[in-house]
Amino acid sequence: MAEELIISNSTDKQQRYETLIPQIEALVSGEPDLIANLSNIVAALKQTMNFFWVGFYLVKDNQLVLGPFQGPIACTRINFGKGVCGTSWKEKKTIIVQDVDAFPGHIACSSASKSEIVLPAFKNEEVFLVLDVDSDKLNDFDETDERHLSQVMQIIERLT
Ligand code: SME
Repeated sequence: MAEELIISNSTDKQQRYETLIPQIEALVSGEPDLIANLSNIVAALKQTMNFFWVGFYLVKDNQLVLGPFQGPIACTRINFGKGVCGTSWKEKKTIIVQDVDAFPGHIACSSASKSEIVLPAFKNEEVFLVLDVDSDKLNDFDETDERHLSQVMQIIERLT
């Protein structure tokens, strides 16, 4: 695995993602432990994209349970269909929320969070974890984030 992350100094987030994603491939190659890999992936995302909060929730006993993350402390369990994460799990799709106050049932782990993107990862066509990214700015996520973070989810799916 790479020992040091090369971070694009571009202000263009597409450029930053494009520099990061091949390094994520390298970071996880040869390491079979899922939690070790998820831990390095969130650290790399935080360092490169400077997200306010980024982390995983893993499906365990029919709940989402907090996994590796970077950022302020967060709620540990989310029920199926609840919040943005539980809705992404239930609907099996990526959700972008431009204003968390406008999303019915949004779970506020931090009052500083203003917008959010949640992407599911699948194993045997079932969601086995979600990636949640929060911003302290409104309208901070778009199709560029969705496209590149989907590539990260595909890397994670290939690990299992
Ligand atoms: N806002 C999320 C809960 C997780 S925290 O943002 C880290 C939700 O509504 O599912």
